[in-house]
Amino acid sequence: MILSVNAYVSHFYFIKIINLHNFYFALRGSFAHNIKKEYGVFEMRGNPEVVDYLNMLIGGELAARDQYLIHSRMYEDWGLTKIFERIDHEMQEEAAHADSIIRRVLFLEGTPNMNRDDIETGEDVVSCLKADLKLEYHVRDKLAQGVKLCEEKGDYITRDMLRQQMSDTEEDHTYWLEKQIRLIELIGLQNYIQSQM
Ligand SMILES: [Fe+2]
Ligand SMILES: [Fe+2]
Repeated sequence: MILSVNAYVSHFYFIKIINLHNFYFALRGSFAHNIKKEYGVFEMRGNPEVVDYLNMLIGGELAARDQYLIHSRMYEDWGLTKIFERIDHEMQEEAAHADSIIRRVLFLEGTPNMNRDDIETGEDVVSCLKADLKLEYHVRDKLAQGVKLCEEKGDYITRDMLRQQMSDTEEDHTYWLEKQIRLIELIGLQNYIQSQM
């Protein structure tokens, strides 16, 4: 009987200690949170200006993706297989750009903004190419400003990510579109269209 009373008492204290332990961590957690809030030191991992800028860039990448989506399907519908394949590939690259930025915003403890910028849909081959080139120039300028901002804020990982996207934009997408428009001027629209079947 004495043993079972002792066991009961020690069990009681054990529970009490566990509860005190939990209480301490709960108190410490809420204290730390309140202190952080009170003194304004509750900071996300990323620089807020960089995160806002990345969120603005997502809108441009999503617009590029969707503009390439509609244009590639229009080319397919017109029987222009080669240009369809190229622009379909471009669409996937823009989705990958958006994906990288979204993942970076999440890592920096921001909330990705999924609002897409407006798109411009062309009506024929030339207006589609020109609308895409206009968007690529716009995105390229925004990326360049982003690289500069990241440099100023010391976020070199984001800077490198944007620099890579600038390379894709400038040396691949933009360059290819410029070449198509130049080719059309050189060989004529009908010849160009025939080369894309
Ligand atoms: Fe892009
Ligand atoms: Fe692009």
